[in-house]
Amino acid sequence: MSDEINEIKETAAFLAPAIAGRAGTAIILGSGLGNLASDIRVEKEWQYKDIPHFPVSTVEGHEGKLIFGRLGDKYVIAMKGRFHYYEGYSMKQVTFPVRVFGALGVRTLYVSNAAGGTNSDYDAGDLMVITDHINFLPEHPLRGRNLEPGPRFPDMSCAYDRELISKADAIAADIGITLRHGVYLANSGPTYETPAEYRMYRLFGADAVGMSTVPEVIVARHQGMRVFGISVITNVPAKSAAKLTTHTEVEDVANRAEKRLCTLFYRMINE
Ligand code: HPA
Repeated sequence: MSDEINEIKETAAFLAPAIAGRAGTAIILGSGLGNLASDIRVEKEWQYKDIPHFPVSTVEGHEGKLIFGRLGDKYVIAMKGRFHYYEGYSMKQVTFPVRVFGALGVRTLYVSNAAGGTNSDYDAGDLMVITDHINFLPEHPLRGRNLEPGPRFPDMSCAYDRELISKADAIAADIGITLRHGVYLANSGPTYETPAEYRMYRLFGADAVGMSTVPEVIVARHQGMRVFGISVITNVPAKSAAKLTTHTEVEDVANRAEKRLCTLFYRMINE
């Protein structure tokens, strides 16, 4: 058996006794969006550093914790802090937790991130449902030996689950929040984009740009999971051309959008 499969199995075996087959849903919380975790009635939580084979998150504001418990009536497993390519991890490391979720029986993945709006109709603080993505990262998470039973050449024509998107729209209408629908482009970072790059990504068809999410989504889809993703638009550079984008600004805006995101995820998972 390959080292990769062995490691996935070992990590799943480490977590499995607490989870006991009850986690059908996993959530990955992006920058400044970790507070959803405080709505979870925790049964068990682990620092990443205590989980065998888990990488350790290195970014300020990305607390590295895996949480298992109940969000409302439903059991979830949540990652507070994710692993990014720009931190130096390989794509196998970035997506390792999603492999472990698959081994633990997770069938639906919710992902969130902070992103820059390339669509100038957007405003900072908007929530954007990810309807499709562009993978502009320099390494592919499925490169190398195929992990069966996932297909060697996975279909990506419908990476983001249409039913979950409709459900999000219905709940958003019910609670009176506006949801944008758009295409998320992932590039490596860690630099924010130059004005020319933002314009280029817009021409490519991206509505938002960030440094995460796409690898996890690909690996979730490779395992047949349903995926729902949301970007919090933290900056719209075309509207603030002379201004810098800073990590603090990104986190502040994400924090302010967090309540809406939490309500949406909570209701989607429970209804
Ligand atoms: N670019 C890339 N990643 C980001 C941005 C951005 O403008 N804002 C928040 N995350």
